[in-house]
Amino acid sequence: MGLVDVSRLPQHVAIIMDGNGRWAQARGKPRTAGHERGADAVRATMRAARRLGVPALTLYAFSEQNWERPQVEINALVDLLCECLISERDELVDNEIRLAAIGRLHKLPTRAQSKLDALMRETESLDGMTLTLALSYGGREEIVDAARELARRTRDGAIDPEDIDERSMDALLPSMNVGPVDLLVRTGGEQRISNFLLWGSAYAEFVFTDELWPDFGANSLYSAIAAYQARERRFGLVPGAEAHGGAVSSRDELERAI
Ligand code: FPP
Repeated sequence: MGLVDVSRLPQHVAIIMDGNGRWAQARGKPRTAGHERGADAVRATMRAARRLGVPALTLYAFSEQNWERPQVEINALVDLLCECLISERDELVDNEIRLAAIGRLHKLPTRAQSKLDALMRETESLDGMTLTLALSYGGREEIVDAARELARRTRDGAIDPEDIDERSMDALLPSMNVGPVDLLVRTGGEQRISNFLLWGSAYAEFVFTDELWPDFGANSLYSAIAAYQARERRFGLVPGAEAHGGAVSSRDELERAI
């Protein structure tokens, strides 16, 4: 934690949690064992982020493309999600963590939807940190859904196409409720975005680590934040110009700079 300057924290950290399967395979265990250990890493990371004072943490827990995995693995992931939504309830409430979710949530089995809805409702007024789970999520799908809504509103005469700007999209993208991503971390050695928060990551700093997700924890988060803090964020400005923290309020300044 000494590595981290708590006065300059990223306001929104997003994580692509990769490597559960490889972690399990390396130990001769079924992939599901990796997901179970992955849930422990979720808890450790969430606690560390909260303790530091990071306002928003978004985790890629299940992509739209993950529906193509073997049914037995999908069932295990949904069961694990359901268990966590029960076991982590006290952790969220005691630490004033608001739970949110993004993605095509209607595609989740109803047993998961109902537990998710209940815990989101119970924690909706908490303001210590927002933990967003991306479930059945795809960045392109989210943008398509927003475009469709804008088209509907235009057709109905509620908006003029000329008035559509970045703010219109921000307002329609559920992932933007907690603002743009400042720091995007991917574990597991791959260096790609895999259809995660495409819009909100436009100016994110990326940190890639070879660590497999079940091995990630508080120290890994501190290292990623320290790496972020060592970078100069320029947002299209020239070197040495004042960098700012990526908050939504800086968007006008950002647009003028491009
Ligand atoms: C990627 O590893 C991980 C996932 C597809 C699922 C993430 C799920 C968890 C961390 C478990 C619990 C989370 C919650 C929120 C309850 P992979 O299986 O693609 O790994 P591989 O690349 O090594 O195969």
